[in-house]
Amino acid sequence: MMLIQRLLPIVALTFGIAFAAQAADTTVRVISDRTPSHLEPLFEYYRTLTGVEIESAFVDKGLIARLQSRPTEADLIITKTADILEEAKQQRLLRPFDSSTIAAELPARFRDADDAYITLSYRPRVIFASKERVEPDSIETYADLTDPEWRGRICIRSGYHNYNLSLLSQMAEDQGLPAARAFIMGLHANLARRPKGNDRAQVRAIYEGECDLSLGNSYYMPIMLANPEQRAWGKATYLIFPNQESGGSYIMRGGAALTTANRNVPAATQLLEFLVSNAGQEFIVNTTFEYPVRDDVEMLDSLRALGNRQEGIEGGRFKANFIPLDAIAAHRDAIVTILDEVDFDSDR
Ligand SMILES: [Fe+2]
Repeated sequence: MMLIQRLLPIVALTFGIAFAAQAADTTVRVISDRTPSHLEPLFEYYRTLTGVEIESAFVDKGLIARLQSRPTEADLIITKTADILEEAKQQRLLRPFDSSTIAAELPARFRDADDAYITLSYRPRVIFASKERVEPDSIETYADLTDPEWRGRICIRSGYHNYNLSLLSQMAEDQGLPAARAFIMGLHANLARRPKGNDRAQVRAIYEGECDLSLGNSYYMPIMLANPEQRAWGKATYLIFPNQESGGSYIMRGGAALTTANRNVPAATQLLEFLVSNAGQEFIVNTTFEYPVRDDVEMLDSLRALGNRQEGIEGGRFKANFIPLDAIAAHRDAIVTILDEVDFDSDR
């Protein structure tokens, strides 16, 4: 030990180049499909805090394909759709993390059973209802949308969009495939128009009187309210968090994981730990309008106001249904088959 210490300066001189390369290892390479402006301030804060430089690459789509073709290009993956982390895990593209901090601070429902990935934030897929035409508390569950009372009054984006496939797969796991089938058929029967457009386009259709109800991700409400051109759409509606008396609302998760790259596992693990810390979570929640994985994170007023017309919802906090991601993935093909049978996206 002593000898090595005395030899170090000489070794450093001789192998100056190698040491310079090691100094460069105080960087962590991150690949993400999240919006760059959501993560860059967080990375900058992390650099001032730790001196660790984050090299980031952003891909809009095809993160899983990129990981397959270049599995060690990054040390850490941050994604808005944790479902792909389950896929990556099954393809052995992830390295389980080893962190007593995460084990102590992150509840099990936010960790993969084998610690291959974690949930960083989540957002429920909720009901947007017309303030003018839908009485508060007249709808309590997703299944209530199939009631004949709402015939011709519901708008939704394509049934095949990831958000809806995830929702329907969660329902299949939670309530069984026959219940999911009955929901798809009943919802289809109640549609006001052919499924088209994105989540916000459905809220706009409520504002314009074309329908009274839609399904969408919760964060679109604060996003619309912050946008002068869309504020009226948001203001015409209120959120209903479904299934609060049963298992909880279905959610979409954002997540993170280590790749199989082995150049700087400790530093990548530290960044992962930071992402679930109070400070890391505040950055994520305040830029994405999603929900934190810690209860001690201060939420913005725009989030705290969500669901304020709904009995039992306080400060925007709702009951979520944390169905394991592998269970959700297993139902996807069966859901697509039912959508095909019903011809869900066709003209009515
Ligand atoms: Fe979205």
